Amino acid sequence: MKTHSCDYIVVGSGIAGLYMALLAVKLGSVLVLTKGSIDDCNTKYAQGGIAVAMGKDDSPELHFRDTVAAGGGLCDAEAVHILTSEAADCIADLIRFGVPFDTLEGEITLTREAAHSVPRVMHAGGDATGEHIELALSRQARSTPIRVLENCLAGEIMVEDGRVIGVKALDCNTGSVEEYHCRFLILATGGAGRLFKYTTNSDVVTGDGIALAYGAGAEITDMEFFQFHPTVLRLPGVAPFLISEAVRGEGGVLRNADGRRFMPDYAAEAELATRDVVARSIVYEMKKTGSDRVFLDATHLSPRLVTTRFPHIYRFCLEHGLDITVCPIPVAPAAHYLMGGVRVNSWGETNISGLFAAGETACAEVHGANRLASNSLLESIVFGKRVVRRTETPCSPGEGQPSTSAVCYSLPEREPLGSAPPLKLPGLQSLMWDQVGIVRSGQGLQEAADVLATWEQSLPESSDRLSYELNNLVLCGRLMTEAALLREESRGAHFRTDFPQASTGWQRHIVFGEDVSN
Ligand code: SIN
Repeated sequence: MKTHSCDYIVVGSGIAGLYMALLAVKLGSVLVLTKGSIDDCNTKYAQGGIAVAMGKDDSPELHFRDTVAAGGGLCDAEAVHILTSEAADCIADLIRFGVPFDTLEGEITLTREAAHSVPRVMHAGGDATGEHIELALSRQARSTPIRVLENCLAGEIMVEDGRVIGVKALDCNTGSVEEYHCRFLILATGGAGRLFKYTTNSDVVTGDGIALAYGAGAEITDMEFFQFHPTVLRLPGVAPFLISEAVRGEGGVLRNADGRRFMPDYAAEAELATRDVVARSIVYEMKKTGSDRVFLDATHLSPRLVTTRFPHIYRFCLEHGLDITVCPIPVAPAAHYLMGGVRVNSWGETNISGLFAAGETACAEVHGANRLASNSLLESIVFGKRVVRRTETPCSPGEGQPSTSAVCYSLPEREPLGSAPPLKLPGLQSLMWDQVGIVRSGQGLQEAADVLATWEQSLPESSDRLSYELNNLVLCGRLMTEAALLREESRGAHFRTDFPQASTGWQRHIVFGEDVSN
């Protein structure tokens, strides 16, 4: 087997991966492994933007309070403090790397999104923030000695004497497997949105980093907390397309199939309630009216505001026969963001020496049970920067550990079902959508857990990209479903009809793995 070596290996080429690579290349040799092309990632689909307290009525403290309020009692205060207070410094890096944030008369323009007390969301190209970030970072990476290996899928983490020494990776074009050795391995592969039938996520988002880390013995936490975005275009024959929360932030309202505005019936904040509340309210309203969609109405806003603030959404809808300045937009919730992931401390360190994770792959307990809009791109850079800083300084044991309480479990063994449907991606996505989606029940979760365990026991050995991805998704589906079964309460994005209230006894994190320090 051919071997290669370098100082840093970064797996994934979204905002977290490329940003860390650009910082790390000043300290050593960097290899970025990405299973598709450099810009095959979720980052480029991010519309709304990136939250940072820079407006005149804003402060990191206010941003802290909004983040914690959205998180349903499970945010780690120290992690949120880091997120909100180190934001401005990392934004300055993005600007230095060439991200063209929108400005008006020389000042960065800020928009409002749900559950933010003030406008604090920076954007680029109106509603094309992620695309501009990805473009700027990949352009910047090309001008440095960072080596980017495309079509290269990390398939197994190599650990020796408790320390990571590298990864085995598959060349997706030739099928050959090679060893890549490194001092520091950083996982930044995004979440696991392809678990669900309806999702805003790119095809590449298949839980790879979480499955890799779990396979190597890393702890995985908060998997039951998956965020469903309330407003995703629902048009027959058109793939789910995000309609940014910023449309509601600029005054768009939600109407049911009968044309009635309904959010004030569910929450005082109406359309600007937290995402979990808005997504569930939409589900109830769709059920009441017997429809598979509601409508996001921006027709009362000035057409100029709509076309200049949301050029991407406007054009996309127009291409599909919908002029959103005169027609309400048909929308429904879809899977969007995984709050859980590889358990890391506030330096991005996992429980395995030399293994780090950042971005959506990681869980530093910053989002708690429900992420505040536009905190995800921010998390990627703030904690990404800390990962790189940590590689310069050896850590003291236990430093940066979350102060929240956690309970460690092993994935339970389950008897295989006598007859389960054959494992195919659409079947997995439907099962997760129906039984582990926005509204869950103990019975549905139990059914899903049995099917997933049966599938897991008959998985073929991974040999190509598709089989790796499917196996990774099944593992992530199991972690999510078992965690949702364990959590007998409703909190944030995790809602169970059989336990509809939050329980103080459950104000703790569920961790899968062998060892947990608190
Ligand atoms: C959006 O624009 O609504 C998505 C932003 C986010 O998920 O934070």
